[in-house]
Amino acid sequence: MTKKIAVLPGDGVGNEVMEAALIVLDQLDLDVEYEWGDIGWEFWKTEGDALPARTVELLKRTDACLFGAITSMPKEECEEVLIPELKGQGLVYRSPIVRLRQMFDLYVNYRPCKAFKNNPLIYREGIDLHVFRENTEGLYAGIEFHPLADDLRAKMLEFNKNMGKFDGVPGEDIAMSCRVFSRKGCERIVRAGFELARDKGYKTVTVVEKPNVVRETSGMMIREARKVAKEFPGIELWETNIDAMCMWLIKNPLDYGVLVTSNMFGDIVSDLCAQLVGGLGFAASASRGDSYALFEPTHGSAPKYYGQYKVNPIAMILSAKLMLEYIGEGKKADAVEQAVADVVAEGKVRTYDMRGSNTSLEVAEAIAAKLR
Ligand code: IPM
Ligand code: MG
Repeated sequence: MTKKIAVLPGDGVGNEVMEAALIVLDQLDLDVEYEWGDIGWEFWKTEGDALPARTVELLKRTDACLFGAITSMPKEECEEVLIPELKGQGLVYRSPIVRLRQMFDLYVNYRPCKAFKNNPLIYREGIDLHVFRENTEGLYAGIEFHPLADDLRAKMLEFNKNMGKFDGVPGEDIAMSCRVFSRKGCERIVRAGFELARDKGYKTVTVVEKPNVVRETSGMMIREARKVAKEFPGIELWETNIDAMCMWLIKNPLDYGVLVTSNMFGDIVSDLCAQLVGGLGFAASASRGDSYALFEPTHGSAPKYYGQYKVNPIAMILSAKLMLEYIGEGKKADAVEQAVADVVAEGKVRTYDMRGSNTSLEVAEAIAAKLR
């Protein structure tokens, strides 16, 4: 049956890498129908919503989404760029990608990081990491307060008197962002990691948290991990702290395979893992739920490069590869990864990050040519 794919290029270089990925997908004789949608900064400025309702509807009627990149800015800048009619209405910008992950309950953020042979940017040969980042809760739950209401402030002081120290104007001088974990949220991300370890033959799963300090949330993740691990005999659960993990990944990256962690730690550690295999130009991701999935490169919209077709499209192409797996085109997915590996290994066509001078589209063409 024809699969319907929503295509959301978004902002900046998101458009360029999407164009590149479609050059590759067009080689594969896929039974898919693409439908383009609006998302990103442009729609925030002119409509006051970076994720228009029509785009949500589009996702609801498709099987999966290919996503480019979007621009996100801190609060003050967001208000400034609105068209005059929308200013001063109290519109709040929330990252559309974070909203989509939560709205469609795309709880697994899977970020494979593999060192391709002969890539001048890799840190070490043989690195092959699979980051599972919880994608719907934690510090990204959007439960934030400023100023603090009196009852919340009182509650805070009950827990920690010290926090009253700098609270000059009561409530006003303190901001609070809550880190919320649910048992189910922990269980299902750990399970996703173990399932991949089982399917791909990894002997360990490493849960990356900080339960010695952040006792309740990280503690819940570890406790759920221990339970899930019992269902997977032969796969050992390793428990590490996020700080030490960053160090160990630099020291002994080959010791690790599958990493599981919460939303914010996963955001951070997945950039670290990306750099070990050549940087964000190689970092693909899948945001998956039980009935929908969205595929996007880990990189942002890189406004300063927009218009130059300069950035490495491989992260987007590998994200499209993850989409192919998801829609049941495993063989074609493997072929895409092999084509990427071949082009990287040959080293003839490379973008600037790989010390080459080819455009994004030339790299895509070279990959596409391997598939012909
Ligand atoms: C990522 C990005 C996003 C995140 C931003 C753009 C909201 O950094 O996908 O890793 O923090 O999740
Ligand atoms: Mg990130």
